[in-house]
Order: sequence, then C-alpha cells, then structure tokens
Amino acid sequence: MRISIYFTPLGLTSADIAGKPVIVVDILRATTTIVTALANGARAVIPAAASDEAIRIAQSLERGSVLLAGERRFEPISGFDLGNSPREMTAEAVAGKTLVMSTTNGTPAIQAAEAGSPVFVAGALNFSAVVARAKPLVEEQGEISILCAGRERGFALEDAYAAGRFAQALLPPGGRRKVNLNDAGVAALELIKRYGDRWKRAVSASAAARDLVAKGYKEDVLVATEADRYRLVPVYEARQITVPRGDA
Ligand code: MLT
Repeated sequence: MRISIYFTPLGLTSADIAGKPVIVVDILRATTTIVTALANGARAVIPAAASDEAIRIAQSLERGSVLLAGERRFEPISGFDLGNSPREMTAEAVAGKTLVMSTTNGTPAIQAAEAGSPVFVAGALNFSAVVARAKPLVEEQGEISILCAGRERGFALEDAYAAGRFAQALLPPGGRRKVNLNDAGVAALELIKRYGDRWKRAVSASAAARDLVAKGYKEDVLVATEADRYRLVPVYEARQITVPRGDA
C-alpha cells in the first residue's frame, strides 16, 4: 500500500493522482467551511481560483440560487455574499444555494486535485466519515494521496497534522511498516507522535490559527477542531463539490 502526502499542491502532477483517491484538507478554513455549507443544505460548492473566475462562473448560473463566497487575507471579498467563515454557512444563508467560492489556498488546492477519483473534501469535522469512505478504497486500490492546501505555497502545520491523522487512520493492519510512505508522510506521522489525537492543540499551534485569532476569528479555529460533527463526505467531481445522494 502506498500513502502519499503533499504539503502543498506544488509538485503534485495530474499523473500522480489520475484516477486514484485523494483527500484534500484546508483545515483553516476552506474545507471546514465547505463541509459546513454542504451539511447545512447548500446544493453544491464550485471552487474558483480567483475572484474574477468566481464572478464569471456565477454569471453563467441561474440567478437567485447562486452565492459568491470567499476571502483574501482572511477577510470577505468585497461585493461577495459570504466570506470564508464556517459560522456564516447557516442553513438560512445557504440551503438550496450553489456557492461559487474563491479562497487563497483552499479552493486552488481542490482544483489541483481534479484528476483524482474520487476527491474527498475533508476536515476534522467530517474526519471519521471520510476515513470510513476512504478505507475500503485504499484497500482495493492500494493507494491514496492526501493533499494539504498549505499556506502561500508553503507548509501549514494544521493541514500537515490533519494529513497525518488521515494517514494514520488508513494504515493497514501491521502499521506503517507495511506501507510505502513518501517523506511528507513520514514527517506527518511524526506530528501525530507530538500532538496525539488533540486536534485543538495541533491546529492552535499553527501560524494560520494565530493570524485568525488576531483578526477576530478565534471561534472559527474552534469550529475547525471539533471532530466528527458531521457524517457527510463531499466529493469534488466535474468541477463541483457535492454530497453524493444518500450520503447527507
Ligand atoms: C485559504 O484558502 O487560504 C484559507 O481558507 C484562508 C482562510 O482561512 O480564510
């Protein structure tokens, strides 16, 4: 079995993941926000790399059922309906809507995973559900990639820790000796030795968490570390993230 972790989408090629399962994480905050929006009844989330791309996509969709969402430097994009806070994604705001969303690192990372199949959008908040869905696939296909959004093309502790948690949960009987791990995978499992299963401690130690707290988004860091709040497993396919039928 092979488990490959990518600390950023840089260096990931379509050939690395073509037709293979991928888990994408941007714990602070894009994947946490997307899972929350879908859990609260959003019909789909369409990731966009840039805000002008988001506007273009939104214009091509049915007016009234579309919301623009996203952030730059953690703050909502001017003129957009919603920012990138999971706490904004209430049923009242998003139920029945398609969100076109652009964030700094998260939505480009999801787009970078496009060649994978299936591509799961994951956070702490749907951790066990994603593991349950991915495990039989890994056993069958012998391979999975875990893609971290990272920060500004660099390493992000909160995503690396999450990737380590997923990797550890997907290890076969016999443990890591039975697995072909890349170096990022080895490093991520070291983080699990350091932080154990304490999402809050690991995520709070990150630079992104400190920046969010400084900007007044402390609650978002707490929401992002609340494991297993939802059972749903969003899938990115044909350029949109949805929850497959019967999975909500
Ligand atoms: C990102 O995509 O870089 C993050 O989701 C930023 C944020 O927390 O707003």
